[in-house]
Amino acid sequence: MNKPEMKEEKKRNKDILDVVDYKLDPSLVNKYNGMTFFIKTYGCQMNEHDTEILSGLLSQMGLIEVRDYENSDIVILNTCSIRENANNKAYGMLGRLKHIKEENPNLIIGICGCMAQEENVVNEIIRRHKYVNFIIGTHNMHDLCNILDKSITSKNLEIEVLSKADKQVENMPVIRSNNFSAYVNIIYGCDKFCTYCIVPYTRGEQYSRKKEDILKEVDELVKDGYKEIILLGQNVNAYGKDLYKDYNLGNLLEDVAKKNIQRIRFLTSHPWDFTDNMIDIISKYKNIMPNIHLPVQSGSNKILKLMGRRYNIEEYKKLFDKLKNARENMTISTDIIVGFPQESEEDFKNTLDLVDYCKYDNAFTFIYSERSGTPACKLNDSVPMNIREERLQRLNEKVNKYFKENNDKLVGSTQKVLVYGKSTKENMYYGYSENYKLINFTSKNIINDGDIINVKITHSKTWSLDGEECE
Ligand code: SAH
Ligand code: SF4
Ligand code: F3S
Repeated sequence: MNKPEMKEEKKRNKDILDVVDYKLDPSLVNKYNGMTFFIKTYGCQMNEHDTEILSGLLSQMGLIEVRDYENSDIVILNTCSIRENANNKAYGMLGRLKHIKEENPNLIIGICGCMAQEENVVNEIIRRHKYVNFIIGTHNMHDLCNILDKSITSKNLEIEVLSKADKQVENMPVIRSNNFSAYVNIIYGCDKFCTYCIVPYTRGEQYSRKKEDILKEVDELVKDGYKEIILLGQNVNAYGKDLYKDYNLGNLLEDVAKKNIQRIRFLTSHPWDFTDNMIDIISKYKNIMPNIHLPVQSGSNKILKLMGRRYNIEEYKKLFDKLKNARENMTISTDIIVGFPQESEEDFKNTLDLVDYCKYDNAFTFIYSERSGTPACKLNDSVPMNIREERLQRLNEKVNKYFKENNDKLVGSTQKVLVYGKSTKENMYYGYSENYKLINFTSKNIINDGDIINVKITHSKTWSLDGEECE
């Protein structure tokens, strides 16, 4: 048994990790032929991509993925711990699985993802959820098959969670969720330690993938006909810092942009690591999409300082303007937290003022959630929950107003849309424009997922646009 320790997770030693190729123990190949599995994914795109890898790993043992957890032999929760309600959702699901297991004692239940890296969560599972079969951490996800096999054989709760990564594993099998848009990890972990955030503990030290490995994966995706590549990391703008003296996200974006790929996106960007050189590359290559996620978190310098965000609002606005001007049609989205400890009405008004300045195209707004063990938990003067809720509502009214105003301006324009699939509405499809507007549209032609087509915008809503295919 290996349990995570937050004290260890916090340490940074700047070692360069060995890179090894994935290989499944030959005795496990197809060992569980025909058994079924279901993975429930919570959290960010990185977790979504991890699930694609977990599916790839399990398939090598002969397991088959099913869409319905109630009839699955194995259920794995790929968890998120960014806010308390993310943890609560996973616990809720565990409750449902417990009932199913009472009827079907052979059900195998596994937990992975960020909650598995939380010391208190693991202790809670040991104490109160003994029906769980295994827990595996974010740093040894590649060991899934071994640990699953071990837990099936031993019938005990197997816990294998490392506090720190000990190697980087390349060439893991992956079953991607579609054949036109692909996630590619470029950097793991996070060293920013924003005072409210659990990620530097659950995902550990920041490690870049070698550029050769990334570019090889991109080449394979190009060969397989992918149209869009989304480069992933908690802070992609720090790419390369730990590995290279003179190769950063700008260089990587340029190398990827030179490949025959139509759409390149990257997320998430921390404003602190954005350089002018990166902005030049974004303006130079038209297959880098004109949409950037630039989380601000707060419009108050006092709160930004308490959050440990390393920039002030004046610097943020300057960067925002540069990016906005880097490309025609550039859209910028953000993340905002309300109700951080010591946030006064005046601080909150500064956030509202910032939204008036930036007029974001999209914003993810959150109520501050205490994460045990993070520095912000120790701050005094926490904001009462009813005030946090009231501020969230006021903020949402403002951000929604700008989403609609920005969308209104696009009525009558023609947008290039990458088709994601059929919409829930009859005879309609949906997809995303270059600047990441969600577009529902009609067409007289046969449309396939992954097509890139022109759509004339006819109508705007707060979170989407309607249109029809045109020449
Ligand atoms: N790496 C990204 C964000 C990852 S988490 C970045 O720094 O930009 C996604 C968002 O969740 C954050 O941007 C933040 O707005 C929010 N978040 C993180 N911790 C939170 C907490 N304790 N309470 C509320 N929201 C939080
Ligand atoms: Fe969390 Fe900050 Fe790292 Fe983003 S940059 S993952 S908010 S610590
Ligand atoms: Fe959640 Fe972990 Fe992603 S905490 S947001 S799943 S990195």
